[in-house]
Amino acid sequence: MLELRDVNASIGNIPILRNLNFSIDEAQTVALIGRNGAGKTTLLRTIMGFTRASGDILFDGKSITAMHPPKRPGLGIGYAPEDRRLFSAFTVEENILLPAQAARLDKAETNRRLERAYTVLPELREMADRSGGTVSGGQGKMVALARALMLGTRLIMLDEPFQGLAPALAQRYAEALRTLRDTDRSVTLMITESNPSLLRGFADRTLVIERGEVEEGSLEPEGTNA
Ligand SMILES: Nc1ncnc2c1ncn2[C@@H]1O[C@H](COP(=O)(O)OP(=O)(O)O)[C@@H](O)[C@H]1O
Ligand SMILES: [Mg+2]
Repeated sequence: MLELRDVNASIGNIPILRNLNFSIDEAQTVALIGRNGAGKTTLLRTIMGFTRASGDILFDGKSITAMHPPKRPGLGIGYAPEDRRLFSAFTVEENILLPAQAARLDKAETNRRLERAYTVLPELREMADRSGGTVSGGQGKMVALARALMLGTRLIMLDEPFQGLAPALAQRYAEALRTLRDTDRSVTLMITESNPSLLRGFADRTLVIERGEVEEGSLEPEGTNA
């Protein structure tokens, strides 16, 4: 459902993504693993169109390389960036609804998707009326996931969602991802992480990114043959 062909991206004169050629199938759960600075964020931003790149990106077999970035979420792509700021002037629920408004979804569809987000993250329903300014960093990650769920009907990309989460919240977050997977078997997930152990047992495919190059990999600890 997503394919990259000869994708290269540079920032200034420095190559950041090099000759990326891979495709991801519908319903796959892909872990994109790489240390800090490897290019994970740049890769997700390139797919969203925020970073300029050469080569071709195809979605459902059609090139989206020339598609205006704000139109891409309309394909059914939800994206939770690393730095997920909430608007403190809005409630938690209003923050979740923002992408739906930007995409001009009608009321019925918006409500349907909000219910989907609350099914995955029931704790957010309890917090719906709180100001976005009062949620903790960890809860902010949950809200960022809910936001991504509003538009991510086909593909959801989460950039280091576990980063900075206390262990209990990280477990809760992983549980929410499993609920999402159980309730929606066809959505494609791409989750970046620097620590492979966090996605073990969850991802069914691993891509390793190192200095801007992507290769197939494994989440198993080195030295095991599992
Ligand atoms: N806006 C930018 N200006 C200059 N260099 C950048 C910028 N964004 C990212 N980089 C560089 O691109 C490389 C990849 O960064 P990034 O995609 O953020 O990696 P990751 O998300 O895996 O930590 C790093 O070397 C980083 O320093
Ligand atoms: Mg990053």
